[in-house]
Amino acid sequence: MSVGRSVERSMKMYQRAGELIPGWTQLISRRASQFASGVSPVYAERAKGARFTDVDGNEYLDMMNAVSAVILGHADDVVDGAVKEQIDRGSMYTLNGPLEIELAEELVDTIPSAEMVRYAKAGGETCALAARIVRGTTGKDIILFCGYHGWHDWYQSANYLVDPESGEYPFAGIEPIGVPRVLAGTAVPFTYGDLDMLSDLLKKYEGQVAAVMMEPARSELPPPGYLESVKRLAHEHDALLVFDEVSCGWRLRIGGIQELTGVTPDVTTLAKAMSNGYAMGAVVGSRDAMAPAAAMFVSSTFWSDNVGLAAALTTIRELKRRNSEPFFDSMGELVKKTINDALASTGLPAACVGLSYNPALSFDLPDPELIPIASTLFVQEMSRRGIFTATSFRVTMAHTEKDIRQLGEAAAEVFALIKSGLDRGSMADLLECDPKKEPFRRLVR
Ligand SMILES: Cc1ncc(COP(=O)(O)O)c(C=O)c1O
Repeated sequence: MSVGRSVERSMKMYQRAGELIPGWTQLISRRASQFASGVSPVYAERAKGARFTDVDGNEYLDMMNAVSAVILGHADDVVDGAVKEQIDRGSMYTLNGPLEIELAEELVDTIPSAEMVRYAKAGGETCALAARIVRGTTGKDIILFCGYHGWHDWYQSANYLVDPESGEYPFAGIEPIGVPRVLAGTAVPFTYGDLDMLSDLLKKYEGQVAAVMMEPARSELPPPGYLESVKRLAHEHDALLVFDEVSCGWRLRIGGIQELTGVTPDVTTLAKAMSNGYAMGAVVGSRDAMAPAAAMFVSSTFWSDNVGLAAALTTIRELKRRNSEPFFDSMGELVKKTINDALASTGLPAACVGLSYNPALSFDLPDPELIPIASTLFVQEMSRRGIFTATSFRVTMAHTEKDIRQLGEAAAEVFALIKSGLDRGSMADLLECDPKKEPFRRLVR
């Protein structure tokens, strides 16, 4: 099954990018060093359904789906049809477009806690907008947070609270250079699941906390009662609760983790998959939390972009029309079973675990230093077999059972290879690239 794939053009482009673009790429997670540099592709030319073609002409089954920004499948005919129609009518007007109101109504109908809506264009931007709104609404400055919430100053200032090399949070080796030091202490991290810590922080900063912002879940469901207690604690201290559903929204439930758990926040941030690959984000929330934004300076030309609005409206309606929830549930379970069967057939000590919408490989190797080697080897060898993946797997509605069989067959070969390297004590010799360094640590896994 192994194919001699060349990624020569990709690597030449990456070299050119290094001369022109500081940091090579626009998203750290798209850097070559995040995969199997020199073996896996870096630049894609086109994508359709569950597959993309790289600039060297190789086709891949895509298990990463534009870093989760694609949910129906690449270049979905229905969403792209709506976008093309909108382009013909004008992507941007001098005036406001009616889609702003239509999408707001759809979001209010879809997201349990939504009564009012503001738009933005990306996940980090929606979080920055939410930070502004909760601070403005409460008149307080501090945000306690637990999750990844983007690149903006309000959030990255938390890096000043820890030594970035200490291994704690969130980028070892990437420092908050350029973030004003005066913001240190205005955003403070707390540990997921640790209610005592949250309670202590709320007491320590009594009267100063605008909001508790968190990813309500990522790869596991929240412990029973946890989100309820977070909400109670936040409200006891007159702080708002913000759920960042940029990554966990849409797949498990169209209405997000709040629909699944029944715990409704005051404010929610949405982006990524909501528009199937078009730039779009939204902050939604209760009337009380959101209405004061009318008097705040939150204003940007492209927040009225009709293309993103048309894409989001169509994507949400298509998720409902195609009955996405049982699809993601059963396909995710199939991915988990397929990967676990492949593991069992080789005896490699690892498991595929986690929620059905985002199952992930977890290696259980005697020496933890071998784990990055095994992970990178997995990415390298899957890529050589035409499957682009990290060690977690996300399907779109374009993925079929046949695709998952292809995933399983390739994984079985790769696990056997890793196991043979492990048994011989020479796994590292199989690597044709540097092991992936893991500078990005998430607070919610
Ligand atoms: C939970 C969460 N919030 C915010 C962001 C930032 O989104 P973006 O990269 O679109 O700015 C991400 C991106 O991974 C995310 O997972």
